[in-house]
Amino acid sequence: MLAEPYRIKVVEPVKIPSRKKREQILKKAHYNIFNVRSEDIYIDLLTDSGTAAMSCNQWAGIMLGDEAYANCRNYFNLKSAIKKIFGFRYFVPTHQGRAAENILFSTVIKPGMVVPSNMHFDTTRANIVMNGGKAINLVIDDAYKPFRKVPFKGNMDTKKLRRFLDENYEKVPLVMLTITNNSGGGQPVSMKNIRKVSKICKEYGKPFFIDACRYAENAYFIKERETGYKNKSVLEIAQEIFSYADGCTFSGKKDALVNIGGFLAMNDAKLFEKVKQRLILVEGFPTYGGLAGRDLEAMARGLIEGLDEDYLQGRIAQTRYLGEGLRREGIPVIQPIGGHAVYVEAKRFLPHIPQAEFPGQALVIELYREAAVRAVEIGSVMFAEKDEKGRVKYPKLEMMRLAIPRRVYTNAHMDVVIEAHRKIAERKEKVYGYRIVKGSGPLRHFTAWFKPVR
Ligand code: F0G
Repeated sequence: MLAEPYRIKVVEPVKIPSRKKREQILKKAHYNIFNVRSEDIYIDLLTDSGTAAMSCNQWAGIMLGDEAYANCRNYFNLKSAIKKIFGFRYFVPTHQGRAAENILFSTVIKPGMVVPSNMHFDTTRANIVMNGGKAINLVIDDAYKPFRKVPFKGNMDTKKLRRFLDENYEKVPLVMLTITNNSGGGQPVSMKNIRKVSKICKEYGKPFFIDACRYAENAYFIKERETGYKNKSVLEIAQEIFSYADGCTFSGKKDALVNIGGFLAMNDAKLFEKVKQRLILVEGFPTYGGLAGRDLEAMARGLIEGLDEDYLQGRIAQTRYLGEGLRREGIPVIQPIGGHAVYVEAKRFLPHIPQAEFPGQALVIELYREAAVRAVEIGSVMFAEKDEKGRVKYPKLEMMRLAIPRRVYTNAHMDVVIEAHRKIAERKEKVYGYRIVKGSGPLRHFTAWFKPVR
């Protein structure tokens, strides 16, 4: 057992507002945590995206930013990091993951097309839909059973994929796989599954793209859980993963340990030509995408650091520490604990709050009220929708996600989060629901106003 393989050189002070102040802040924010200022948050677990602490090596790289418009030196450093880990023939930098998705899908999708995946992330789905396509999730059924412990709960159901391709062959421009599966609890996909999906794609002649945001965490889980990988390095595992694919979209804001950055990579020369044209229009020249030279350098260095096994061991252990700590307090958390976040099943934790009154949202607000901790609701505020007859359809799970920024918090911070849940559990019958007083549509969770139901 190792502690974190780094020591802290720079600190950023945080403060906890008084209980009275927190109540005022919540009211002023209309009980939407997205409206609370970062300054008023003590521990921010809203996302693990773009929130990492960069290393001294990355900050030193920032000073070596070459801000030439074309062919800056940092582009070539990024190119060799991508070549080493991912191995794809071509790539373009983008300012973040969704820009890579936008460029890919605006290039390959025609109206009426369908893109299958284990589970699409929101921005991936939205980029497919905005380009006239449909996004289909074909994850294994176990993914929908929150307390069922299976090692690779992010796997694609390959039988379903085969059937889907048989029935929709003409309409599929490519097949995707998200590693790890964020929307399904940060759960990994096994190498066996990746190999199988790749084989099916080859059989049907369809390109296979990976949404690779958290590939290093996924590779670490393969090393830990899959037979035959114990003695392989995480780098070798990553290389094998991508050897089965034709390309990937990537948000550097996760496993590349940067605050901004991403890329789109592929092997197909014809696609690369089209992608470059589109990139120039919406992001920038193909050697900088939407980034400064210094950002490219930080990402090149972060990619290598993100594969450090001591770092990954500590990272996954911290997520597990939080998850196990909550479980010991009797808080229902999605099992097994995923890579980047712990997901609390709010409906089970607060069974007296009906889904129409948003138990996930109630828990998010209560957690801020208790300890100035910020989490995010992944439940009915985000996903409830009306059917053709105007009846509200609620999602199966009402979750609150506690996403852990990389290299930012200590386990003492995690103890504060666990303690806050214990206190909420003690008075949970008194926790009440909310109703929406303003805001609608699929992105309402970012802007809606709420009122307590009391
Ligand atoms: N794919 C996955 C699986 C993601 O989790 C995200 C972002 C993206 C793509 C898009 O990348 O933010 O760089 O544009 N997830 C963040 C989150 C926002 O909080 O889970 P991006």
